[in-house]
Amino acid sequence: MSPQAPQAAARQPVLEARDLAFGYGKGEPVFEGVSLEVAPREIVCLLGGSGCGKSTLLRTLAHLEPSHASHAKGTIRFLGEALTAPHPRAALVFQQPGLLPWLDAARNVGFGLDFVRQPKLERARREQRVNEALAAVGLAGQGGLFPSQLSGGMAQRVALARALAREPVLLLADEPFSALDAITRAQMQDLLVELVHRWQTAALLVTHDIDEAILVGDRILLMGDKPGRIVREWRVDIGRPRTADAAAFTALRLDILAALHAAHAIGGAAPAVAVEAVSSSSPS
Ligand SMILES: Nc1ncnc2c1ncn2[C@@H]1O[C@H](COP(=O)(O)OP(=O)(O)O)[C@@H](O)[C@H]1O
Ligand SMILES: [Mg+2]
Repeated sequence: MSPQAPQAAARQPVLEARDLAFGYGKGEPVFEGVSLEVAPREIVCLLGGSGCGKSTLLRTLAHLEPSHASHAKGTIRFLGEALTAPHPRAALVFQQPGLLPWLDAARNVGFGLDFVRQPKLERARREQRVNEALAAVGLAGQGGLFPSQLSGGMAQRVALARALAREPVLLLADEPFSALDAITRAQMQDLLVELVHRWQTAALLVTHDIDEAILVGDRILLMGDKPGRIVREWRVDIGRPRTADAAAFTALRLDILAALHAAHAIGGAAPAVAVEAVSSSSPS
């Protein structure tokens, strides 16, 4: 391999979408004019209010929405090639873990390896992948537990392991922690960042939670609605591990909140007023 080759590969986005649009039926498009990139090992958070089209966009990027639908437009490239079907190296995680109740945790993880277009693995290699993935999410030796024996957090760890076992280059996660209690959610956010770094995957995380986006993301894309569009973007230059009480965190949160209010036109620019009130109280 030439010395330039690894650099060129490192520069190539994992996912590249250009001018995407999609709509259900013949009504208004859910989103349009959406262009975005996810670089290798990058965590991009897609943030937006309820109903603005985040889930629809994520499914479209995974090639799970029909590309012949009304308003369907644009191009998606995965590892430099046009995406014409769901890609075996893109793995999805949803708010609900979606485990099969009649399979134990290990078999649920293994189930992800049977999806269409997954390369077939020898039995030993398959078992190794399942065990590595369970260990990575902190469930080593617990593969024999059934979904009914798992807490919400453990079930979501199994869902993450099911995704990881496929050795994805991109994790597509749709509000994967929103059904969890605050403490478990914080643990899972840390785990996600650790896994993305250790397994050298990239991630596109959909969330409606500003703090989650800042805690987890290298970059944040803000989606406005009617129709959905990417209206702002931030690079999160805050060292890790991040804590929500750091000054840089608070400043970014206020900036995003103001942009979110403006994008969704709810109650005007209240946070911006609050910031101004602080500065105007100082003598000028
Ligand atoms: N399967 C569907 N059929 C028709 N409309 C849908 C469907 N799924 C979502 N929508 C509509 O598309 C819009 C965006 O939904 P969604 O992508 O779920 O938003 P978000 O994930 O940001 O909350 C909403 O108006 C929703 O009602
Ligand atoms: Mg959604």
